[in-house]
Amino acid sequence: MAKVLFLYSTTDGHTIEICKRMKVVIEAAGDDVEIRNLAETPSLDGIAFDKIVIGASIRYGKHQKVVNEFIARNQAALEGATNAMFSVNVVARKPEKNTPETNPYLQKFLRKIDWQPQHLGVFAGRIDYPSLGPFDRTMIRFILWMGKGPTDPTQVVEFTDWDEVDEFGRFIASL
Ligand SMILES: Cc1cc2nc3c(=O)[nH]c(=O)nc-3n(C[C@H](O)[C@H](O)[C@H](O)COP(=O)(O)O)c2cc1C
Repeated sequence: MAKVLFLYSTTDGHTIEICKRMKVVIEAAGDDVEIRNLAETPSLDGIAFDKIVIGASIRYGKHQKVVNEFIARNQAALEGATNAMFSVNVVARKPEKNTPETNPYLQKFLRKIDWQPQHLGVFAGRIDYPSLGPFDRTMIRFILWMGKGPTDPTQVVEFTDWDEVDEFGRFIASL
């Protein structure tokens, strides 16, 4: 039984839901999964896991800065385990931008860091318009309007393909 660590970076919580969904799939396959907040896990020193997966969401074009900082500090430990990373963003709802090779945020991020994750994933996220503050709601409505996406401020729009999430989970379990 392998020990799997998910480290999430989130603003609105959807990345945690994706980690939780994979936990179910991976544990059904026999591995043991722990999910931790990356922002509250400054170091991997003294932490032993066979597989480490970082999941991070995009806000205003970037993953949280803490993700880059964590990777720079813990690169050796990440490379000492079987490792993977996935990004969550709404641009990934578009078929031409929903793979690690075609998602602009993940590609830009990979160019900025030294670590090259062994395995990569991209998932389309979720917009909960009613729960956002007025500034963020206006901004993300504008971002989606530019991309011909849904802009009704009363709606919760989930773009995530949960079958793809399950598939990635099964893949992590198979490593
Ligand atoms: C204020 C705001 C800004 C966002 N900016 C972007 C963006 O620039 N590009 C993008 O693809 N998605 C963007 N998103 C979509 C988020 O990546 C998506 O909602 C994701 O599910 C958030 O995950 P989280 O809840 O784990 O933080 C934005 C969302 C919000 C609310």
